[in-house]
Amino acid sequence: TKRVAIFLSGGGSNMRALVEDMTGDHPARPCLVFSNQADAGGIAWAKERGIPTEVVDHRPYKGDRAAFEAAITEKITPYKPDIICLAGFMRKLTGAFTDQWAGRMINIHPSLLPKYRGLHTHARTLEAGDTRHGCTVHEVTAELDDGPILGQASLEVHQDDTPETLAARVLKLEHQLYPACLRRFAEGNREPLCIKA
Ligand code: GAR
Repeated sequence: TKRVAIFLSGGGSNMRALVEDMTGDHPARPCLVFSNQADAGGIAWAKERGIPTEVVDHRPYKGDRAAFEAAITEKITPYKPDIICLAGFMRKLTGAFTDQWAGRMINIHPSLLPKYRGLHTHARTLEAGDTRHGCTVHEVTAELDDGPILGQASLEVHQDDTPETLAARVLKLEHQLYPACLRRFAEGNREPLCIKA
């Protein structure tokens, strides 16, 4: 059984979808929920469920990413994760950290990569007039929102969509895509999965 550490910064709805899928014959189990935000909703939820949690606040490290990442490594190492899932973890990681976890760390991003790396993906999709939008699960490399794609889920953009309505529909798709991709990844299957809504 693979041990999975999930990193988040916010509500953690993707983390919940991952944890809820990791039962029965699933090849992985959650070993840790980690956050840079002590008050992240996802941390409270994991605690209630009896899943170990750890926090390293990024603020005291003010730009010293190497020291921040060293602190993360120190906190997570005792849990012996095999896989790290970034699930709304809103801190950039350096190449030193991503190299250490190469082939063992995955992320979900709310756009159809390679389109719209970074923030405000829903607004940028609407501004561009795209007719389809969605989310991507990919292996994490040193470049932000880059790396081999493990799966994508797409939907149709509606005429009257706003960044908020799009975000809500894409988030629901994320909850389908991420567990499906983690399951495959834990089994060693890296063939991209394609979901069309
Ligand atoms: C999700 O939409 C995720 O794709 C996005 O943050 C949200 C977290 O929601 N991640 C990124 O933008 C990463 N750059 P959640 O906390 O409810 O899972």
